[in-house]
Order: sequence, then C-alpha cells, then structure tokens
Amino acid sequence: MMKIQVPFFRAELNEQEVEEVVATLRSGWLTSGPKVRRFEQEFAAAVGAPHAVAVNSCTAALHLAVEALGLKPGQAVLVPTMTFAATAEVVRYMGAIPILVDCDPLTTNMDLGDAARKLARLKSGQLANALPQGLQAAGIMPVHVGGMMMNIEALQNFSTGQGLWVVEDAAHGFPAAWRRTPEERWQRCGEGTAAASCFSFYANKTITTGEGGMAVTDDAALAERMRLMSLHGLSHDAWERYSGGGSWDYKIIAPGYKYNLTDIAASLGIHQLARAEEMRREREGIARRYSEALSDVGEIELPIEDVNRVHSWHLFPIKLRLERLSISRNVFIEKLKEAGVGCSVHWRPLHLHPYYRETFGWRPEDFPVATAVWERLISLPLFPGICDNEFEHVVHTVKGLCAQHAR
Ligand SMILES: Cc1ncc(COP(=O)(O)O)c(C=O)c1O
Repeated sequence: MMKIQVPFFRAELNEQEVEEVVATLRSGWLTSGPKVRRFEQEFAAAVGAPHAVAVNSCTAALHLAVEALGLKPGQAVLVPTMTFAATAEVVRYMGAIPILVDCDPLTTNMDLGDAARKLARLKSGQLANALPQGLQAAGIMPVHVGGMMMNIEALQNFSTGQGLWVVEDAAHGFPAAWRRTPEERWQRCGEGTAAASCFSFYANKTITTGEGGMAVTDDAALAERMRLMSLHGLSHDAWERYSGGGSWDYKIIAPGYKYNLTDIAASLGIHQLARAEEMRREREGIARRYSEALSDVGEIELPIEDVNRVHSWHLFPIKLRLERLSISRNVFIEKLKEAGVGCSVHWRPLHLHPYYRETFGWRPEDFPVATAVWERLISLPLFPGICDNEFEHVVHTVKGLCAQHAR
C-alpha cells in the first residue's frame, strides 16, 4: 500500500485564477495597475472599510501602518509574544521597542490583563531590565491567532483608556467577524476594528496572491500616507504616471519604500477574494469534523468555538495534555512526520527567540502562559480540498499516537 503523505498546506488555484494571471501577462501591464486598483476596491468592500492599500506582504502593511501613525524611537508598542516575527520587527524598523505581552490560555490571543500589568510596570520602571528608561507607550498590535478574533470592545476600551492607537495584525483575519451578543450585528475584521488592519495573502493564508498584503483604514489621511510610502514616497502625479495617466515628472515627498503589489499578484487576489467565504466554510467544515473525530481523545485539547465569532479557520491548533502523555510535543511532531502528516507550531513565542531575549532581557517567567502553552501546540493540516483519505489519515495518526503514548 502507498503511504499517504498529507502536507500541512496545499494551495489550490482554479482555472479562472490561472487564466486571469495569463491575461495579465498578455496585457503587458505587469506591475501595479488596474487589477491592483480593482483588488483594493473589492477588498475594501468585502471588509467594510473605506480605504485599502495593496502591498507585497502583510509585513509591509504593518510597517506602513506604524510609520503612518508616526511611531518614533523612544516609544513602545504592546505586541503579543505569541505571534510571528513580523508583528514585532516592524516596531524595531521604526527604532521603537515592542513590549511583549502574555497570551490567553485558550485562544492564545493577547491577554489584555497582562497588557495592563506590563504597562503599569513600564510606567514604574520595573519591566525587563534591558529596556531603555522613559519609554512612552504609543500603540498596541493585537493578532487574531488562527482567525479567532479578540473581543474588539474590550480591546477598544483598553486602548482608549490607555491612549494607544491600535494596528491590527489581521494576517489570519480574513474573512472573520465578531459580535458582542447574538442580538447584535457582526463587525468584520477591518470594519473599524483598528486604526489600520493589515492582512496577509502569503501562499498558505486564507486567500493568496503568492506574496501580498493589504492595509485597510477608515482614515483617509492615514491611507494617503501609507500609499505614498508604499512607492518610494512619490507624489500623487507619480502614481498616475504609474497607472498610465500622468506625466513623466514626479516629486519625492518622503524617503518611502518599495512595497507595491503587482497586477500579476492581484489577478489571483481578485478571484480568491470572490471565493473567500466559500473557502472559509470549507475550512470550518473540516475543523468541525476534526473536533468531532478527536472529541474523545483525552490526551489533547481542541480549539474552542464561540457563537459570537465568525472564525476564518486559518489554523487548527491542538494542545497536547503533556501530563497524560509519555512523549514531548517535539517527539509527537517527529512521529507525525514519520507517519506522513505535515504539521506546524504557531508559534515559538517571541520572548524565547535569541534576539528578543538578549536585546531586551525578557525571561520565560515574564510570560508564564505562553512559555507553558507553546510546548503543547501543534497545528494540524487545514486547507480547502483536503481529501477524505488525507483527513482520515491525520485523525487516525493523532489518535494512534495518543493511545500508544498515553501515560
Ligand atoms: C500573525 C502574522 N503576522 C504577519 C505575518 C506576515 O505576513 P506576510 O508573510 O504576508 O508578510 C504572518 C505570516 O505568517 C503572520 O502569521
């Protein structure tokens, strides 16, 4: 019998997407042009935001957002320790300092209680000993881990109370929504949920352009600054020239970056966007099947569901109950790999990476929840188009390993 190999993720592009890319190549317009404009407009409408700026990654979107908000050296930003490199590194790009925050044990989203504690200790000069003195907190950058949104009301109360701007790292957050109660309407991620919300279209994300990202905002001036800085800080007339309208002349207004998305990439984005909800439902169906099939496995904890969330289901992270197992998470992953099951971990928390530990003096005990929970995390394969035999193989392997290594 052939051994089944289940990848952690498999991109599935349809014929329309392939044809749109080919049509773009044939049109001769390869860089930012009409398809990017269309993608921006359609994405803005999909999340319910007035302005959208397409860029070549979510990292670029996050960088543009904090730059446009005026982040400066000597300022600090609250960043979850449970995130990818990008969220904190853009703070460093500006010469500012990320103040890492512990996570909620169930969702692994940022814990606002710990954010308040970290701020209080920052103000009294008792935070990590390698932090510079006199830092002023300017903002907060929440991440909706795996596409399960944080409570936006609690986040906004916190940020308003502390006088902080919010830049949402919504790399996993499309399409996603939250509501306070079932009686209230859904608020989509990006629909006024932050000063700027930044999405990723990296290959394995909920929709993809290969590499790509989008910053959305309600604020016209912020959008204008992000757009300016996304293309060398060139003036408006330069943008028109770029899209075929303007003159040969341009003015450099600021030393910007080269972050613009291409029409080739946007060609994928337009069609991925149109089937984003269909793909989300498919992932939701797979997630529910996993939860059902694994519900009686006492050695693992499953991701939670909440009636007040539309979950994008970018990830399906299980947590091992290590006290009931005789093997570690790393050995569990090795054994999944041997059985042909691809998986990942989201994430080794930032405070356990050499750069953040050594530069700012963070210690594991500053983040007790993240330090303990990350040793238990495994993300299982979750993507539209996973075959029944692949799904069954993942379930069978996880169950088998738990039974074999139960204490
Ligand atoms: C939470 C989070 N933020 C930001 C990013 C960066 O996205 P991109 O690769 O589009 O820059 C990722 C990518 O995996 C992510 O998981």
